[in-house]
Amino acid sequence: MSVIAIIPAAGIGQRMGAEVPKQYLTLLGKSILEQSVLALLADTRVQQVFIAVQPDDPYFSAQTNLSNHPQVVRVPGGASRAQSVLHGLAAAQALHGPDTLALVHDAARPGLSKKLLTALLDQAQQVPERGVVAAVPAWDTLKQTNKHGQVQTLDRSLVWHAFTPQIFPLQALLDAMMKAERAGVNVTDEASAMEFMGVSPILLEAEQQLRKITCPDDLIMVEALLKAQPQ
Ligand code: C5P
Repeated sequence: MSVIAIIPAAGIGQRMGAEVPKQYLTLLGKSILEQSVLALLADTRVQQVFIAVQPDDPYFSAQTNLSNHPQVVRVPGGASRAQSVLHGLAAAQALHGPDTLALVHDAARPGLSKKLLTALLDQAQQVPERGVVAAVPAWDTLKQTNKHGQVQTLDRSLVWHAFTPQIFPLQALLDAMMKAERAGVNVTDEASAMEFMGVSPILLEAEQQLRKITCPDDLIMVEALLKAQPQ
C-alpha cells in the first residue's frame, strides 16, 4: 500500500507559554515542525505530507522552508486536533487511491528516528487492518479517579502512553473518525476512533525522544536526548 502523512500543526501551544506556537520554536537549528516533517520524509515510502495549519497562521511561510516543498500540501487546521486530522484526511482522499495508508504524526514530536519509522511502516504494511501506534509502556504507577473522588491503581504492566506516528488505512480512518465524532467519542488520537470501530491496533514500542513537546521542560529534555544520539 502507498503511504501519505498527515501532520496536525494547527495548535496554539498555550501550555508552552512561548511567543510563537510551539511547532515554530527552533530545535537543533530548524523549527520543530520542519524536524517532524523531514523525519517522515526520511522514508521514501512517504509520498506526500498534508500539514494542517491555521488559515491565518503567518509562521508557516515565514519561519519554515516547507511552503514550496514538492511533497508538502498545506490544508486548513480545525478547532480541535481531530478536526485538523480530518481536514488532512479529506484532502488526501481526494488525491490518493483507496489502497493508501495514512500516517498521522503530531507536529510537536520532532524526535522520530528513521529506525522507528521504518519499523512502524513495515508493521503497518504487514497488517494494515489492525494498524500500528508508536507507544511507550507506562513508567510511573498510574491512578484512576472517578467523580466521587475514589482512587484505584491501574496495573501499570498493562498501560501504555500512546504517541504518534499512528498508521491506518486512509479510508477506514476517515470513516472511523467521522463516526466516532458523531457518536460523541473524545477522539484524542486516531487509535481511539479505530478502537471505537472494534479495531485493536498494534502498539510498537517507541523511544522517549519521541515524547510530545508540550511544556518548556519537554523541549529541554527532547533536545538533550536528540543531542545525545550518535551521529
Ligand atoms: O495541544 P497538543 O500538544 O495536544 O496538540 C497535538 C498536536 O495537534 C500538535 O501538533 C498541534 O499543533 C495539533 N493541533 C491541531 N489543531 C488543533 C489543536 C492541536 O492541529 N486545533
